[in-house]
Amino acid sequence: MKTWIPVAQANEFMPSGGGCVLIGNKQIAIFNFNKTEWYAVQNRCPHRQQMVLSRGIIGSQQGEHKVTCPLHKNSYSLVTGEHLGGHTHWKLETYAVKVEAGMVYVGIEPMELKEWQLETQSLPGISHHNMGGSPPG
Ligand code: FES
Repeated sequence: MKTWIPVAQANEFMPSGGGCVLIGNKQIAIFNFNKTEWYAVQNRCPHRQQMVLSRGIIGSQQGEHKVTCPLHKNSYSLVTGEHLGGHTHWKLETYAVKVEAGMVYVGIEPMELKEWQLETQSLPGISHHNMGGSPPG
């Protein structure tokens, strides 16, 4: 069963923008589209292992929301995490995200709680940075 971790107030995000939150030892990029659709993926771009995706450009491709890395413009589905250029081994981890009473929550599986060293911290153990992100492209 998922543990829902409160990570930020929804109003800390620009409309149709992104931001990075730190959950335990894990950087998570969170994006919204008009504050109605929310996505959470790993912040690390699989191309060069850079922690930059929260600063990527969001948009849509064939009806599916995506993020484009600001460094070398690789694009990933925000729904499946798949690379949209066909590199099947470059896949983002995706996470459940929800907003309740103005608070953004990320859903963490028990295994991830352990991997992210959250078990040893008192929850929520959150710090966040780089709020703001980029407008959709
Ligand atoms: S680091 Fe993201 S596309 Fe190169």
